[in-house]
Amino acid sequence: MSEASPLPLLLQLPACREQFVEQVARSFGNACHSYTSAARLQQQVALDALALLPATPQGHLLDVGCGPGWVHPRFSGYCHTFSAVDLSAGMLAKAASQQLATDYIQADAESLPLPSQSVDTVFSSLMLQWCQRPAAVLAEITRVLTPGGQLVLTTLVDGSLAELKRAFAALDNKQHVNHFLAVSDVIAAASTVSGVRWQFTERSYSLFYADVQSLARELKALGANKVAGRQSQGLTGKGYWQKLAAAYDAKRSAAGLPATYQVLLITGVKDGR
Ligand SMILES: C[S@@+](CC[C@H](N)C(=O)[O-])C[C@H]1O[C@@H](n2cnc3c(N)ncnc32)[C@H](O)[C@@H]1O
Repeated sequence: MSEASPLPLLLQLPACREQFVEQVARSFGNACHSYTSAARLQQQVALDALALLPATPQGHLLDVGCGPGWVHPRFSGYCHTFSAVDLSAGMLAKAASQQLATDYIQADAESLPLPSQSVDTVFSSLMLQWCQRPAAVLAEITRVLTPGGQLVLTTLVDGSLAELKRAFAALDNKQHVNHFLAVSDVIAAASTVSGVRWQFTERSYSLFYADVQSLARELKALGANKVAGRQSQGLTGKGYWQKLAAAYDAKRSAAGLPATYQVLLITGVKDGR
């Protein structure tokens, strides 16, 4: 691992929201070509989320935070047509190269350029943890949903990358890993949006790596390593990496070094049909 290796994400809320949104778009844009082959967790989670929708095609679906659209070929089992939204032009271009959606829309999930009650299903996997105001996103996707429409979302929550956080904690007391919302914060955000019957299920996913550098490389390939007001904090030097690797190695199992992700699956049905 070179000295300048970027390390896991860190989400300090920058003073300026526009700047934060730009950083998210840039970071994912830079990863648009490497993302799909690194997206092991994302693929498991999105397929589990899709399985929560009725398995008969229904109406128009909206994929919010679609990334490179690797899941889009699967949508034909769940909807007749769909639109795809992402902040990142690069991710959206990658998705659009498949020519499967009726529209590819570059937009912020907090402010969707779509009429109210215009989509039958909203799908959004592993985008919400990149949004500073989850309540605003949940209100916006509810606005565009038709009465009786369904939504399925997933987000990372507190407890994700706990092994990595503990390994860093053995080295210094700086924050190196993203702060993830608590489940109770997501539920509180959803409770501000009326007219939806919400349900929440938490699941744990563990991935295994040969070493901590492999984990860092995967996060970089996903674009999940550099989004922040700050970047790697004093993470230079071989000695630091060796200490981090030694601290993480305490968790090694026969399968390798574990990285556990806590995922909240959120479903909802909009009142009114
Ligand atoms: C971890 S990727 C998930 C991509 C895809 N849904 C998947 O499951 O593989 C997160 C995506 O959300 C997008 N994103 C982040 N914040 C967003 C926002 N506020 N509005 C729209 N898209 C956003 C990013 O550009 C990125 O493509």
